[in-house]
Amino acid sequence: MRRICYLSERATTVSDTEVVEDIVLPAMAKNRRLDVTGCLWFDETRFLQVIEGPDGAISDIYAAIAVDRRHADVELLVDEPIASRLFERFNMRTLSGPLPDSVTELLATNRPRPKPVQDHTPDFAALVASVIAELARWPVEPA
Ligand SMILES: Cc1cc2nc3c(=O)[nH]c(=O)nc-3n(C[C@H](O)[C@H](O)[C@H](O)COP(=O)(O)O)c2cc1C
Repeated sequence: MRRICYLSERATTVSDTEVVEDIVLPAMAKNRRLDVTGCLWFDETRFLQVIEGPDGAISDIYAAIAVDRRHADVELLVDEPIASRLFERFNMRTLSGPLPDSVTELLATNRPRPKPVQDHTPDFAALVASVIAELARWPVEPA
C-alpha cells in the first residue's frame, strides 16, 4: 500500500457546493470501489488531501487529480509505502475549518519554492508527517 499527500490551489470558479457534489461525492464512490481511504481538507483557496490504498489505485487516482482543472499547482508533499492506514474508516473524509498550527507552518515553509518530494529535507518530511497525523486526529465537528 501507498500513501500520498498533496497541497493545491483551489480554482476560484469552484463553489463549495461543487466541491461537495462534484468532487467529494464521486470521489467517495470511486475510492470505495478501489479500496482507497483518505481525507480532503479545503478552505476558500486551497485543498490539502491525503489518500492511501493499493499502489496502482493511488497512481491512477493521483494521475487524474494532478490534471484536474478544478485546482492548480498540485504539489506532492509525500509519497510513501505504508503498512497500515490512518484513515481506515473513511473513503474520503471532508474536513474544513481552521488549520492546526503544524499545517499553517507547513504552508508557510513550503511556498513559494516547492521542491520535488525526493528533495525534501528531513525537517520538511517530519513536518509533513505531523500534518498527516493531525489530519488523522481531526475532531468530529460539533453538531
Ligand atoms: C481536490 C480534488 C480531490 C479529488 N480527490 C479524488 C479522490 O480522492 N478520488 C478520486 O477518485 N477522484 C478524486 N478527484 C477527482 C479526479 O480528479 C477525477 O476527476 C476523477 O478521479 C475521475 O474519475 P473518472 O474518470 O472515473 O470519472 C479529486 C479532484 C479534486 C479537484
